[in-house]
Amino acid sequence: MKHLLSLHDWTQEDIQEALTLAAKLKQEQKAGIPHPLLQGKTLGMIFSKSSTRTRVSFEVGMYQLGGHALFLSSNDIQLGRGETIHDTAKVLSRYLDGIMIRTFRQEDVEELAAQGTIPVINGLTDLLHPCQVLADLLTLQEHLGTLAGKKLAYVGDGNNMAHSLLFGCVKCGMDIAVATPAAYACDADIVKKAMEDAQKTGATITITEDPVEAVQGAHAVYTDTWVSMGQEAEKEEKIKVFSPYQVNEELFSMAKPEAVFLHCLPAYRGLEVTEAVIDGPRSVIFDEAENRLHAQKAVMVMTMGEK
Ligand code: CP
Ligand code: NVA
Repeated sequence: MKHLLSLHDWTQEDIQEALTLAAKLKQEQKAGIPHPLLQGKTLGMIFSKSSTRTRVSFEVGMYQLGGHALFLSSNDIQLGRGETIHDTAKVLSRYLDGIMIRTFRQEDVEELAAQGTIPVINGLTDLLHPCQVLADLLTLQEHLGTLAGKKLAYVGDGNNMAHSLLFGCVKCGMDIAVATPAAYACDADIVKKAMEDAQKTGATITITEDPVEAVQGAHAVYTDTWVSMGQEAEKEEKIKVFSPYQVNEELFSMAKPEAVFLHCLPAYRGLEVTEAVIDGPRSVIFDEAENRLHAQKAVMVMTMGEK
């Protein structure tokens, strides 16, 4: 059974296959060539948090693949009233061909995959956001040509995006530098696992508190909101701590002159990034958003398609 729970679980070859298939499906979709690779299949999409991109891109992607997607808000299904993940996994496995889940705890996604008998795709947890990073890697490949040997700088919160970027970049042979305030550093276990992955590809990982050190020589600069879903109560405190980590024109100018700017969105202009950078000529944020569709179609075919 193939799941997408974390990019750490996927081999370099799996990621490359996903990027190649995503590029092919993108080209077919643009050329109007039908590709009903999941005809008659149904994906259930469990959401315990808000979403624009993930919800719409999975639903549209499934439609384009000839299948059907069901939106399952955790407010409306019995999971939100205390039915166990175990029972939810067993029941949904009797109806569906795959589940995408966006929730808080990574352990819940792992349990859903362990207890069910169908593929599970992680649509974001507090710890990881692998689908976003596959779309980001596709976007970087389009703009930079190749990934191996290039450098990405992530500046901001050591959150789910930082973690999945660590795994995704090093598995593709990209160097990555992550700059966060000390109190908001990446999870040590994730960094350890990413270091192990990096050894296999020769990529390097730099962990620093200095945003300038991180962006120097970078081909891509990435940031994310300082206040992730579920952290609303910490907003005032975080805005104070993170202000030196804003990606503004001054910081962006210290990356390579041709560097691109990425953000998973939703963005908060004037906080983690200035308007001049996010709306500037080197921002590729809407390509990233579009590539969610193509990358996730590839993931669904790889996990739910005929073997
Ligand atoms: N980037 C991302 O996952 O966006 P949504 O929260 O809108 O799905
Ligand atoms: N770090 C953000 C990403 C949103 C796509 C969050 O978890 O809210």
